[in-house]
Amino acid sequence: MISSKHLLIKSIYQEKVDRTPIWIMRQAGRYLPEYLRTKEKAGGFMGLIRNPELACEVTLQPLKRYPLDSAILFSDILVVADMFNMSLRFEEKKGPIFDNPIRTEKDLNKLPIDLDVTKLSYVNQTINNIKDELKDNLPLIGFIGSPWTVATYLVEGNSTKKFTHIKSMLKNNTILLKNVLNMITKGSIDYVKQQIENGVDAVMIFDTWGSLLSKDEYYNFSLKYINEIISNINTKVPIIYYSRTTSNFDTLKNMNIDCVGISSENNLQAVYELLDKKISLQGNFDVRFLKSDNKVIKSEIVKTLDSFPYDTGHIFNLGTGITPDIDPDKVSYLVDTVQELSSK
Ligand code: CP3
Repeated sequence: MISSKHLLIKSIYQEKVDRTPIWIMRQAGRYLPEYLRTKEKAGGFMGLIRNPELACEVTLQPLKRYPLDSAILFSDILVVADMFNMSLRFEEKKGPIFDNPIRTEKDLNKLPIDLDVTKLSYVNQTINNIKDELKDNLPLIGFIGSPWTVATYLVEGNSTKKFTHIKSMLKNNTILLKNVLNMITKGSIDYVKQQIENGVDAVMIFDTWGSLLSKDEYYNFSLKYINEIISNINTKVPIIYYSRTTSNFDTLKNMNIDCVGISSENNLQAVYELLDKKISLQGNFDVRFLKSDNKVIKSEIVKTLDSFPYDTGHIFNLGTGITPDIDPDKVSYLVDTVQELSSK
């Protein structure tokens, strides 16, 4: 059965495709000069996200440059905090900051019990604007963060690499942690449903920091909550789960996901086999190769494509988001070369 005309969706569902689809995490971002100009006009990253016209404009910028196979909503996983009345700001070089992080029961009890998804209605407007522009020529990916990954920011209050507070909560106060995770899960269910109602064609769940957890913890503090979100989605949309773990892939077998995004430390074929070839894969080109010359980029593309020796079930992407130091011409070379070399 052909589920969709879009290459991305066909590959997610392991249907026959003429070539490997490609899109790039953070494809609308700081490596593009036009992005920087629009961000300036919006008065910064948060201003950009909250402005449906400009958020739509930057979503489309990479598509004007490159023949990519999908758009992704321009937003951030942390906007869900609008529903918790936690104000998010971004500082240049520092990233996201919550001035009032959740460290105690008292902090949590100050937050609203009834969550209001209409606080995120600016995202609906952005989605509608993008869908109007795409005219169904390309699919649009919507997304949320996993409750665990979002919790790391709500509890730490910033983009720490140490994770002192969340690790301490995990060790000493799992009741509070579970209450935080339940709140995020509840908000995320309403938020993701709203994105789907407004027309996103696939949903990606970013679990960037699931890798901090041991195998048991990974299920109990991350996957369990993701399962709860997925089981509450009653419209069929393909789900891509982004994992930066290097092990524990077998734990994913029983989840109701259609595709797993993996980072560059993993091997596509090895992970595909661990998942019994039943779940498609997205990834996992190392962004650092984009700083090399085209000859090196090409040979690395060949290696990535060869590491997935099957007819379908692979979506080409980076292993992480594209960084601001990449030359946009290298992205052009990447997209063209992947499309050419993977053509059957
Ligand atoms: O991929 C896309 O183009 C869609 C938009 C998108 C952004 N962030 C825009 C963004 C998506 C899907 C995200 C996901 C996200 N956000 C994650 C999960 C994926 C990952 O990267 O691990 C996380 C952990 C966040 C939280 C976040 N947002 C951090 C920690 C930072 C600062 C670090 C950084 O990369 O700058 C951001 C900022 C951010 N999110 C930018 C963009 C384009 C850069 C903001 C700027 O222009 O100043």
